[in-house]
Amino acid sequence: MKMDERIFPNLDALSRAVLEEVLRIVRDAVAQRGRCSIALSGGHSPAKMYELWSGEYSARTPWDKVHLFWGDERYVPQDDPLSNFRMARECLISHVPIPAANVHPVPTGLPTPEAAAEAYESDLRKYFGSAQPAIDLQLQGLGVEGHTASLFPGSPALDEQERWVAAVEVSATPPRRITFTPVVLNRGLNTYFLVTGKDKREILAALRSESNPTTSQYPAARLQPDGPVVWFLDSLAAP
Ligand code: 6PG
Repeated sequence: MKMDERIFPNLDALSRAVLEEVLRIVRDAVAQRGRCSIALSGGHSPAKMYELWSGEYSARTPWDKVHLFWGDERYVPQDDPLSNFRMARECLISHVPIPAANVHPVPTGLPTPEAAAEAYESDLRKYFGSAQPAIDLQLQGLGVEGHTASLFPGSPALDEQERWVAAVEVSATPPRRITFTPVVLNRGLNTYFLVTGKDKREILAALRSESNPTTSQYPAARLQPDGPVVWFLDSLAAP
């Protein structure tokens, strides 16, 4: 499949390039709709970007207009070392003046992952009202087997047509997760994949040579968002 790839010599350069685009997207979204929704991802790749955002890029961000969501979350307490929310809180959220009401973590304190997924969908529906769930910017990671968000190969959630958020069991640690479904992910106005490290070379090569993305075994290839999809790669992932 054809991929719009941008390749950077290191994580610092990649993170800064993403942030310049993030600030542009925030500016445009705020000018057009008065607010901007961003879905964060977990994994290692975005941590540097979150740190830089909390520092020198923070003053350029209209935090009162930015709403942070999570494209996926592990079903663990919010202070667990494996929590995607915890990672973003420590690297970014606790250092910037974003109103608490603009931060939308997955409520993993609820008794089951299914209850957490339902409550998260209600939160999203409240945010979008009668509009379609078109997130202004979705930050996505890529797993070595082609997963993105917590949509792993073979997951029934890939064929979801109704629910915006699903509880899933995946073959990774921790196995119980909550994820946006393609109902949301395919409406994204901007989708940025952040992919770093040489263990991603093989899957990137497989995605590039994928001839029929819509039926691909790789969830990252199956997403067909409405807006542009850009792949930010470091030189280890794309030598
Ligand atoms: C998660 C993620 C996941 C991640 C990829 C890439 O919660 O596990 O959101 O989809 O983005 O596994 O992770 P790395 O950036 O660590 O390679």
